[in-house]
Amino acid sequence: MVHRVLGVPYICLTVLFLPLFLQGVEILDPGQVVYSETRTNGVVGRGVILECGPTLPDVYIWGFTKPGTDTIRAIVYNFGKGPKIQKLANDLGDLTVISNSASLSIEKLPLAAEGVYTCQALYDTLEGAKLYYYYVFLRVLVPVTKPYIVMSDSSPVEGTSVTMRCGLENGTGPINYIWELESREGQLTTVAEIYDDNRLNVTDVNRNYTGWYRCIASNQVNQQRSDRVWLDTIFGPDQPQIDVTPYSVTERGYSALERETVSLLCQASSNPPSQYVWFYNNSQVYAGPQYTINRILRMHTGHYACLAQNTYLNTRSRKTITLTVYYPPDGAPICSILPVNNHTDLALQCTWEGGIPAASLRWTPYVFGEESEGLTNITKIQKGQDTANNSIFICQGSHIASNEIKSCSVRTWMPYGDPKCSAYATRNNEYLMLSCSWEGGFPRALVWWASSSGDMQGTSEENANILVLRSSATYSGKAFVCHAKHPLTKETKECVLKLEAPVLVTQRSVMTVYEGSDAQLTCILSRNYPVTEITWYNNLKQHVNEVPKKYVLERAAAWTNLTVRETDSSTDTGHYWCSATNAVGGAEIPIMLMVKRYPMPPNISISKIIYNSRQRTDVDLEWKLQTEGNLTGFFIEHQMLPEPVKKRNGDLPWQKLVDLEPDSRSYQVNKLDPFGSYAFRITAINHRTFGNPSEIKSPADPPFNAYPAVIGAAIGGMIIATIITILLFMYVVRNRNNNPRLHDLIFGRQNSQSRENINFPEDEVSGTAEGERGTGQPSQSASPVAPMALPRPSATPTNLPPGEEPVNVTITVMASS
Ligand SMILES: *[C@@H]1O[C@H](CO)[C@@H](O)[C@H](O)[C@H]1NC(C)=O
Ligand SMILES: *[C@@H]1O[C@H](CO)[C@@H](O)[C@H](O)[C@H]1NC(C)=O
Ligand SMILES: *[C@@H]1O[C@H](CO)[C@@H](O)[C@H](O)[C@H]1NC(C)=O
Ligand SMILES: *[C@@H]1O[C@H](CO)[C@@H](O)[C@H](O)[C@H]1NC(C)=O
Ligand SMILES: *[C@@H]1O[C@H](CO)[C@@H](O)[C@H](O)[C@H]1NC(C)=O
Ligand SMILES: *[C@@H]1O[C@H](CO)[C@@H](O)[C@H](O)[C@H]1NC(C)=O
Ligand SMILES: *[C@@H]1O[C@H](CO)[C@@H](O)[C@H](O)[C@H]1NC(C)=O
Ligand SMILES: *[C@@H]1O[C@H](CO)[C@@H](O)[C@H](O)[C@H]1NC(C)=O
Ligand SMILES: *[C@@H]1O[C@H](CO)[C@@H](O)[C@H](O)[C@H]1NC(C)=O
Ligand SMILES: *[C@@H]1O[C@H](CO)[C@@H](O)[C@H](O)[C@H]1NC(C)=O
Repeated sequence: MVHRVLGVPYICLTVLFLPLFLQGVEILDPGQVVYSETRTNGVVGRGVILECGPTLPDVYIWGFTKPGTDTIRAIVYNFGKGPKIQKLANDLGDLTVISNSASLSIEKLPLAAEGVYTCQALYDTLEGAKLYYYYVFLRVLVPVTKPYIVMSDSSPVEGTSVTMRCGLENGTGPINYIWELESREGQLTTVAEIYDDNRLNVTDVNRNYTGWYRCIASNQVNQQRSDRVWLDTIFGPDQPQIDVTPYSVTERGYSALERETVSLLCQASSNPPSQYVWFYNNSQVYAGPQYTINRILRMHTGHYACLAQNTYLNTRSRKTITLTVYYPPDGAPICSILPVNNHTDLALQCTWEGGIPAASLRWTPYVFGEESEGLTNITKIQKGQDTANNSIFICQGSHIASNEIKSCSVRTWMPYGDPKCSAYATRNNEYLMLSCSWEGGFPRALVWWASSSGDMQGTSEENANILVLRSSATYSGKAFVCHAKHPLTKETKECVLKLEAPVLVTQRSVMTVYEGSDAQLTCILSRNYPVTEITWYNNLKQHVNEVPKKYVLERAAAWTNLTVRETDSSTDTGHYWCSATNAVGGAEIPIMLMVKRYPMPPNISISKIIYNSRQRTDVDLEWKLQTEGNLTGFFIEHQMLPEPVKKRNGDLPWQKLVDLEPDSRSYQVNKLDPFGSYAFRITAINHRTFGNPSEIKSPADPPFNAYPAVIGAAIGGMIIATIITILLFMYVVRNRNNNPRLHDLIFGRQNSQSRENINFPEDEVSGTAEGERGTGQPSQSASPVAPMALPRPSATPTNLPPGEEPVNVTITVMASS
């Protein structure tokens, strides 16, 4: 704005001295006026000298023409009588004339002193008077004052434009403007240098323009520097930058290990500075630039967003990162073995699920090239044939978030031995079940059934397989094969079942026993599969178990013995049935049991019956066998006769007094009522067969003293005869094979035959009989047939004289009145 053009004064001069005027050139033309022009600059308030020729002229006049006018006004003249300063000169500062010259000195130049000064000088020279015109063009320059900066906007937003003006009160132009920027860091740069324009136009302001601005204004006189002015560029926030510590970047974003402390730092350039807000999965979690998570957990996985806001501009920017928290899977890997490829190979499976990222797994022993390594779930195929029994495989699992290596192991082994087959039937033999098992291996063996022709039956199963068939006789004689395959064996193992209907046999289909003894029926079961048991039915077709005391069953592997206890000739004779049924058939065989009675024991005669004293309390009884015959004992009965009658009466009840050994021939009955009258009889017994009772006799009173000797001798002879008879019998029986004729003579041929069938030695018969005694029957004899108490004569029975036949002695005892 300080822009002034000086050129107006020439116009007035041109008017005065037009013909002579040539600007800046001194023309020497004698007789002519000489014109001289100079230009001088002065500074306001300071001094200046305006010269009028080198020497003092004789006459001179200074004139002043104000710019913009054409009138010349005299300010000083000197016609030889000293300079005369005009009043007008007062407006032009402290104006003095320098002595001995025509030059003017002006102190404290005012601005109004600017103009054209004309010095008309006349020199009186020898060649005549000479006239000079000296034109002095004086410019009064104003120094620049201290500038100041005016900004159109001291806080511009980035991208807008700002105009800065370097304001200046005074100063002569042209003025040069230099713009300086001192950055925040103190660095000084010259932004622009503009000549004669005090404005600085900054289009598209950016943050780099922020700083202290100064403008320096300068002109011909001086230069001045403004105070600094702060330009604050408003911007941002920029796209935030997020720093995660500890730093770990994966393809899925940032990662951190569980329980670490993780710090998220958000930075977004902005003026004024950003306000930060943190979001986790879109919900605000923290305000501030640095979000720190102490002991980060797996649940902290997710999206973290930093929102930066410029509250002044109300602008915001956002950045989101994904943070994954790594953690190892729980527990340890799980190993398993499965059979594959038709049970020829093993699949080793190792699984360790749950961690992030996936855990690394590795099978050892490691075989390169197979699927021995991998993540989370790996399956390695192990050739069954290449695997030894009891091989152990280990799977190791490692995870980035754990220092520990976790492992599991698995062992494979073959089942022991060979598969085992068996068949059995359901209740009532409805179904037939073929069972096959080959247990104990790992992994389990595969088991399936096939018919003998090789067709598979049913399905294949692990470890054990049961084939269920409807029972049918068509399976009898058929074979079924169980196949079992384990990966560790190359070949398939087998076991074979042959189904067979039961076959029953018996050693004897007819059994003959004497009554009272036990009969044992034997039945043998052969070729019986599936195994079944023998069932016995008695002669009434009753199941023997329904009559438990009567029958005793003894079982062994193949046979069953049915013991019929205490056989009775009337009830136990008949067909007994031995029966067996399995799922493929049944069998039943009859066994005939014949229970024979023992022969009747011989008739007995009472040979003596007498009171042994006059007190009539004791009776001596003696008897004898009427014929030869087997017997196992005797019993004595008596009747008490009613007093007035004193006669034997068949209707009176018989009271059994005693059972006696078979070898007894005498007995003393004691403690009788001396006043009662009695009748006695004796009966022989052979096992269960009772003989005919003897004749009934009543005791007689004792005879005279002479009698006992005679009777004793007679009885003694009879006893010896009886003993000899018995010994003879026994001998014959024991030696029947050596002496069959004699045997047959005594016992008869049929008897002998039946004994052969029974095949029991007599000793055993008696032993068996002895075993029965305990059933509450009054004991007849505690000893076997061959009595031990009996004194054996040294002579063998064969030595007996042939004439010594048993003698029948009949003694008639008369009762004395
Ligand atoms: C500028 O010039 C004017 C007139 O000449 C004067 O009045 C004023 O004081 C000057 N200002 C400065 C700062 O010198
Ligand atoms: C400064 O720039 C603006 C916009 O670019 C323009 O309008 C203006 O005329 C410029 N001023 C000067 C003095 O160049
Ligand atoms: C600011 O200056 C820096 C360094 O001089 C430069 O890299 C950056 O691009 C500049 N910014 C702008 C917006 O011009
Ligand atoms: C956060 O988001 C991630 C990814 O979508 C998700 O897995 C996680 O469960 C979320 N967390 C919560 C607490 O919602
Ligand atoms: C599996 O094994 C059985 C018996 O060894 C054989 O019959 C069958 O063909 C095999 N199947 C395959 C798919 O190899
Ligand atoms: C592991 O992989 C096998 C096949 O390779 C698959 O049969 C099994 O189900 C997988 N186990 C799990 C737990 O995913
Ligand atoms: C394999 O090992 C198991 C377990 O020790 C054992 O029971 C089995 O008999 C072995 N089989 C063979 C064929 O050695
Ligand atoms: C069953 O009978 C058989 C043949 O008679 C015999 O060999 C076996 O000893 C008997 N068993 C018993 C326990 O008596
Ligand atoms: C045995 O006695 C009965 C009558 O008591 C008689 O009938 C039978 O003939 C006698 N037997 C012998 C062999 O004397
Ligand atoms: C008596 O029994 C024996 C064997 O105990 C026998 O050998 C004999 O023949 C029998 N006597 C008669 C007459 O039955």
